[in-house]
Formats: sequence, C-alpha cells, structure tokens
Amino acid sequence: MSLKTYFLQVKEVVQETADSVTIYFWHPLSEQIKYKAGQFITIIVPAGEGGKKVRRSYSMSTSPHSDTAIGVTVKRVEGGLVSNYLNDNVKVGDFLEVLEPLGNFFVEPDADKTRHLVLFAAGSGITPMMSIAKSVLKMEPNSRVTLIYGNRSEETIIFKSKLEELGAQYGSRLAVHHLLSRPSSVWVGKCGRINQGAAIRIMKEADTDFTKDNFYLCGPVGMMEDVIAGLGIYNVSKDRIHRENFHAPMVEDEPQEADDSLQTQTVKVKYNGDEYEFEVQPHQTILEAALDLDIDLPYSCQAGMCTACMGTCTEGKVKLDEEDGLTEKELKRGLILTCVAHPISKGVVIEID
Ligand SMILES: Cc1cc2nc3c(=O)[nH]c(=O)nc-3n(C[C@H](O)[C@H](O)[C@H](O)COP(=O)(O)OP(=O)(O)OC[C@H]3O[C@@H](n4cnc5c(N)ncnc54)[C@H](O)[C@@H]3O)c2cc1C
Ligand code: FES
Repeated sequence: MSLKTYFLQVKEVVQETADSVTIYFWHPLSEQIKYKAGQFITIIVPAGEGGKKVRRSYSMSTSPHSDTAIGVTVKRVEGGLVSNYLNDNVKVGDFLEVLEPLGNFFVEPDADKTRHLVLFAAGSGITPMMSIAKSVLKMEPNSRVTLIYGNRSEETIIFKSKLEELGAQYGSRLAVHHLLSRPSSVWVGKCGRINQGAAIRIMKEADTDFTKDNFYLCGPVGMMEDVIAGLGIYNVSKDRIHRENFHAPMVEDEPQEADDSLQTQTVKVKYNGDEYEFEVQPHQTILEAALDLDIDLPYSCQAGMCTACMGTCTEGKVKLDEEDGLTEKELKRGLILTCVAHPISKGVVIEID
C-alpha cells in the first residue's frame, strides 16, 4: 500500500481538557482529503532522540459529513513522545507531515438505514466515536446512537460540552451515558468502570436489540474484553462487534519462550516497482528488518493494528504475531502485516501494492 504524504497546515488548536488538545487542519489547497468516520491519520513529528522522526496514528474526531476541517484529538500519555510533543508544541500556522487516512474501523452512513449504533469509549477512545456519532446523526435521520463513555473524573471528559450540544440538537436520537471511576462528590451520574455488568445494564436501559444492533468499542483492552464477554452472553455475532485498539496489549513481564519455528530467512519484498531482498533474524519482524536497512516500506502503528503495512504473501509461509488487524477473509487471501510478520519458510515473497 503506497501511502500518500501531506503537509497539512494547522487551522486551530483547542484545549479540550488539561491533558488533551484537538488539532484542526486545513485541507490542502489542491484537494479535499477523503476519509470515513472512524478512520485515522498518521502524524510524523521530530519528537525522537536528536529530532528523529516518529510516527503515531490519531483517529479523526471530526466528521467528514459535518465538519469542514480535519481534526484529531490527542491525549497526553505519561512519558509519551508524540502525544506530549503535539500537546506542547503545535500552534496555528504550523505544518505537520501526515499520511493519508486509513483504517478498517469506520461507519459509512446511509440515509435509507434505520439502525441503532451502540458505542463504547474510554478516555481518548472517544475520538473515532465522535466522528461516527456526528456522521450517523447527521446523515441517517431514522437512526439513533447510544454512547457509553468512561472517564476518571468530570475534568477528564473530552467533548463534554460538545456531546451536550449534540444531545440538544438531536434529542432522543443520541443517548450519552457517562461513567466516572473517581467522580467528585457533586457528580450525579453513573459511577464505576465500564465492565461486563455495567455494559449489560446500560445496553438494556438503552433498548438494545442484541439480534441486530452494531457495537463499536475503543478503549483499554480490558474494557473491550469485558464488553465483548457481555455481548457473548447475548450471542451477538462477531461481525457486529467492531473494535479499535489504540495501544498494543501489554507484553507480559515473564520471559518469552523461544519460538523454534523462527530461523533467519531471506525474504523478497516487491514495492513501488522495486524489489528488495534481505535477511530477517528470528527476533525481527519483516518490517523491522527492512527499516534497519533503511528500506522505506509503508507503516504506521507497528503493532498490527492499522493495516498501513499490509502486503500479500505470494510465495513461502509467514507467521503473524497478531492477526486481529486482518479479517478472516483477508487472512485466507494471503494478506499479511509486515510489522507483525516473520518468515517461517525459505523463499518468502511479499508484494505490497
Ligand atoms: C489506530 C489508532 C488510532 C489512535 N487514535 C488516537 C487518538 O485519536 N487520540 C489519542 O490520544 N491517541 C490515539 N492513538 C494512540 C496514539 O497513536 C499513540 O499511541 C499515543 O498518543 C501514545 O504515543 P506517545 O508517542 O505519546 O507514547 P509512546 O512514547 O509511544 O509510549 C510511552 C509509554 O506509554 C505507553 N502507551 C502508549 N500508548 C498508550 C495508550 N494509548 N494508553 C496507555 N499507555 C500507552 C507505551 O507502552 C509506553 O510505555 C491511536 C492509536 C492507533 C493505533
Ligand atoms: S504498521 Fe500498523 S498494522 Fe503494521
């Protein structure tokens, strides 16, 4: 996948909470950047050691159907390179290097549909949900949205007043359920975390039809697993559960067992009309080996979540550390993600479109 790069000028920076900002960009003069509600862009900034460029993905919090600018909302992660760089440094007029929108976590509104979308978000996981909610509410007059949104305290709720405005605009078509794990004494809303019990209670309160509604999840892995377990009780089919991972699951502290199927192999990668042949060591992924040799392959999250590094394995066999980023159909077609792929046979050939 050959990714298009843009240099986007910052139109506005809005402080949403003490530790998050929304950065709005102008579209380039020459084109209107197309994206789907729920997708993300990759921002590349010199936030690494000695000004080294680093890239991170950020979901659009704006809607392609109701907002003129493209916007991302970035929440600080303690000790995080890029989230703090963006919160501390970006100002109106700056240009940021950005890769084109990507991602399989999206909703395409259809005015003829009548449906109920149930969105679960925690913390910064609100960003794609904001885009999806705004898009569906605007474009599907017969559909409704329930948002279940977890945060620590009142002050950390991103888009609190924007959600109230949307509620006033769309009435009963939008129901927002805030859950706070450490609320102040004056909080009159729901308390606690989004766990299995809370998720089921609120979904019932929201007249959820488990036989046909669609569920969208973005937040910590534990929260998403709890909600999925709750949906499992009602036999919700996998194709109606959509999740976006912002953060790769924590690697256990226990030493990893050596994987005997991995040996140093030579792989061939065809990309952009060029062919690269190089060795991949057992401890490396195909992408890591390529980047170590300064071979400029496409990538973004480097964690098997965004599909920016997708290619097809046309010869030989590879093993993926993480398969969640691809659908079963894509895996059957031989699609792989180079950032989590290891060659496990001789003669592996990968083609990247
Ligand atoms: C598809 C996608 C969309 C995303 N959209 C958004 C978005 O809209 N808004 C947003 O704020 N972020 C979003 N993220 C997360 C974002 O890409 C970065 O991972 C995040 O900003 C942290 O980057 P950093 O460079 O500051 O931290 P790093 O320097 O990469 O990490 C510092 C430390 O924090 C840990 N860490 C990294 N990310 C997280 C996290 N999310 N939660 C807890 N600990 C973490 C790391 O393991 C490490 O220990 C998205 C990620 C993906 C894959
Ligand atoms: S770089 Fe994101 S899935 Fe590989």
